[in-house]
Amino acid sequence: MARIIFSGMRPTGKLHLGNYLGALENWVKLQEKYKCFFGVVDLHALTTGYDKTEDLKENIKEMLIDWFSAGIDPERSTVLIQSYVPEHAELHLLFSMITPLPWLERNPVLKEQVRDLGLKDNINYGLLGYPVLMASDILIYKANAVPVGEDQVHHVELTREIARRFNNLYKNVFPLPQVKLTKIPRVPGTDGKRMSKTLGNTISISDSPEKIEEKVKTMITDTQKIRLNDPGHPDICVVFTYQEMFNPEQSEEISAGCKSGKLGCVECKKRLAQALINKFDGFREKRIYYEKNPKIIREIVIEGSKQARQVAKQTLDEAKKAMNLDYE
Ligand code: AMP
Ligand code: TRP
Repeated sequence: MARIIFSGMRPTGKLHLGNYLGALENWVKLQEKYKCFFGVVDLHALTTGYDKTEDLKENIKEMLIDWFSAGIDPERSTVLIQSYVPEHAELHLLFSMITPLPWLERNPVLKEQVRDLGLKDNINYGLLGYPVLMASDILIYKANAVPVGEDQVHHVELTREIARRFNNLYKNVFPLPQVKLTKIPRVPGTDGKRMSKTLGNTISISDSPEKIEEKVKTMITDTQKIRLNDPGHPDICVVFTYQEMFNPEQSEEISAGCKSGKLGCVECKKRLAQALINKFDGFREKRIYYEKNPKIIREIVIEGSKQARQVAKQTLDEAKKAMNLDYE
């Protein structure tokens, strides 16, 4: 059986290390074995950003440049824009009829967003239904697996619940998709909390070498290691966590050097910045090509969305038929 993958990202601009290690790097690998659909989920971006849509087009462009520079291959994978495939929205409406409100009200991801964005009681209808739209994105392509970071696991579980409920109520139309995590499903930000744009603790994969150096310099290390020769505790240091993620070849030596007091934080950070600069060097080069040729990006997503629609339409017809919404 052909295995199908769907994943998406909200177009909030340039991607950070968390997006990369938690999802994008995995997407690039999965293209080799699976039929992949990757969606720019612009409607999801509106659930919180409905009042500042002026940056949306630029953000979509920036995110797509990151995808293609990192190796998303439109010859192999279908790259689409959610709002260009209106079947997502129609399936969302059908799913909204069968989704009990308590499933959405107790969603821990929503609670976290409300806290981080300071929304309090000011939650709109679209934001509450975020996971229902996400279920539609995934199930409209009958995806079996969803590569995302750890913060999205609960949403994929809800997708399974919605699929199960639909299949039980009407007919077995949808698979029950599984989440696909990477080895590093949660990347900390420069302050040690989860890396997230809202928290302003990100390093972008397209940041210039100077910017990377500057951001790494400001990272807080083991607070008990004050002088160079003080022994450090790599296990509680975010800089060391990054060394393990981005500089694995040197991480053992760095850990030993830190613990013995031979390696100071300044040198340790220099090595980390260099590893990050090297890791994303190739991406920065490819970026320049797409920045000069934005028309290519447009053509790719228009064509991808067209192809996606053909698949999406079939599933939607099947779902409507199962619900007796086929009046002929
Ligand atoms: P977002 O930018 O929130 O739309 O996230 C896009 C993808 O990146 C999703 O699969 C997230 O789970 C993943 N992601 C976002 N932040 C992190 C992080 N700090 N660590 C790991 N994965 C992340
Ligand atoms: N909620 C996801 C995020 O914030 C984005 C998303 C929307 C998504 N629809 C999806 C991810 C479907 C995977 C599958 O990262």
